[in-house]
Amino acid sequence: MNILITGGAGFIGSHTADALIRKGHSVRILDNLQETVHPKGKPGYLHPDAEFMLGDVRDRNKVKQALAGMDAIFHFAAYQDYLPDFSTYFHVNSVSTALLYELIVEQGLTSKIKKVIVAASQAVMGEGRYKCPECYPKEKNYVYPQIRLEAQLSKGQWEHLCPKCRHPLSWLPSDETVINPCNPYAISKYSQEQISIQLGKRYGIPSVALRYSIVQGPRQSFYNAYSGAMRIFALNLFFDKQPIIFEDGNQIRDYVNIDDVVNANLRVLEQPEADYRVFNVGGGKAWTVLDFYNTMQSIVKKTIDPVISGYYRYGDTRHIFSDTASLASIGWVPARCIEDSIQSYWAYLNHQDDIDDILDYATKHMKHLQVIREVKST
Ligand SMILES: NC(=O)c1ccc[n+]([C@@H]2O[C@H](COP(=O)([O-])OP(=O)(O)OC[C@H]3O[C@@H](n4cnc5c(N)ncnc54)[C@H](O)[C@@H]3O)[C@@H](O)[C@H]2O)c1
Repeated sequence: MNILITGGAGFIGSHTADALIRKGHSVRILDNLQETVHPKGKPGYLHPDAEFMLGDVRDRNKVKQALAGMDAIFHFAAYQDYLPDFSTYFHVNSVSTALLYELIVEQGLTSKIKKVIVAASQAVMGEGRYKCPECYPKEKNYVYPQIRLEAQLSKGQWEHLCPKCRHPLSWLPSDETVINPCNPYAISKYSQEQISIQLGKRYGIPSVALRYSIVQGPRQSFYNAYSGAMRIFALNLFFDKQPIIFEDGNQIRDYVNIDDVVNANLRVLEQPEADYRVFNVGGGKAWTVLDFYNTMQSIVKKTIDPVISGYYRYGDTRHIFSDTASLASIGWVPARCIEDSIQSYWAYLNHQDDIDDILDYATKHMKHLQVIREVKST
């Protein structure tokens, strides 16, 4: 097949391109080499057989050109920083998805396009699913908490409390029925899901939305604030610095390896049972942030105590973990573990020749974002 990957110069897109080319497909990439992801321009890791088109997914003419002759599309290009330019999330993520379907219909491509796969996110599920062990020890009465606000976090009160008895809630895995997007990125990702599934059904364009958890592996941009814990912990250990662990380090996270994500992408491309559905793509094992850091220390053979002193990132989720039973039902289960992800990322980091610039940039960028705050009283 001829396959278009928007955002194909990025982390997930470039690995997907490599896998598709290995399987004999032709790949065209449409990417604007967004400055915050690629400050040094076109990355050297792009597959030489992939056709590269420089362009923005908001540009009607570029997208039209990029669609010509294509049989399938992975729509990965996205705005995913923490900055408060709220409208950009919708211009890049939502409008581009609508534009894609608009052009498929306008250009009479509905029967030619075999599949559109859009990257959604675990963020669509927001704070996820919980239950109160006191009020509902047995029944399935779930609680879906709202985002924790400054009044709570500034006192260092991290856990979600039962709205009825104020007992700390217990987290549960969240399946695809959980929808509670709490920030502009998440809302835009949910709109992408809806645009693709609803317009896909209406016009007979087989479409799938994948809610990735935190994806890890080589090529995660060093410059993208979104790449999170892996990059920050690895850079600190590399430079023998103490990392800051936000809150108390006991937040639950869901890390999934890039090879598993690529396999999920290929599976939904190939399987008609995936059509018009939304799937979680997660790592299958819950990790606390602290356990993740400890595992990294043992793998890279360095021991540096982290700073756990009540810093928090405003807007962070307390616990989130994806239930991946739906994707398992069409034959996908994660096969890699967190140790695999850490090893491959550490090797990738150690092969970079501009590491000083990276740390400098990371520090300045986090200060600029002002997402890190400190507890005022406990
Ligand atoms: N990496 C994760 O952990 C994760 C988790 C959940 C969802 N996702 C989603 O998966 C997709 C891919 O993520 P990634 O980690 O590969 O990100 P990435 O930043 O590495 O890649 C995104 C690519 O899109 C390009 N891009 C950005 N804006 C563009 C625009 N307006 N026009 C054209 N190209 C543009 C960038 O230049 C970059 O090459 C995104 O939609 C993201 O929201 C990623």
